[in-house]
Amino acid sequence: MTWYRAAQLNSINQSGLLRAEVGGKEILLIRSGNNLYATSLRCTHENDDLSSGTLEDGNIVCGFHFATYSPATGEVISPPQDGGEATPLKTYRVKIEGEDIMVEIP
Ligand code: FES
Repeated sequence: MTWYRAAQLNSINQSGLLRAEVGGKEILLIRSGNNLYATSLRCTHENDDLSSGTLEDGNIVCGFHFATYSPATGEVISPPQDGGEATPLKTYRVKIEGEDIMVEIP
């Protein structure tokens, strides 16, 4: 387990999604109010980049077929709207060090 500097805190706004690459992995940083989360970047339906999606009611919504995921647990809240299936996202531990967002990669 290693902690990596993923982004500066001020690079992600209060209700935003940000793509980052740490430890050779693509991740999604999520800031929802005062909470920060990190998940895998790609939608498990058809591999869309979730940083181009949106946050609605605190959940990540894929911009392609609108699968919805919990940023805290990665679980699928609602499936893709084309009748396909999605599986949970990976989640990573996050902490703040000074002005930096740190993510632990196994
Ligand atoms: S690619 Fe994300 S819901 Fe289809």
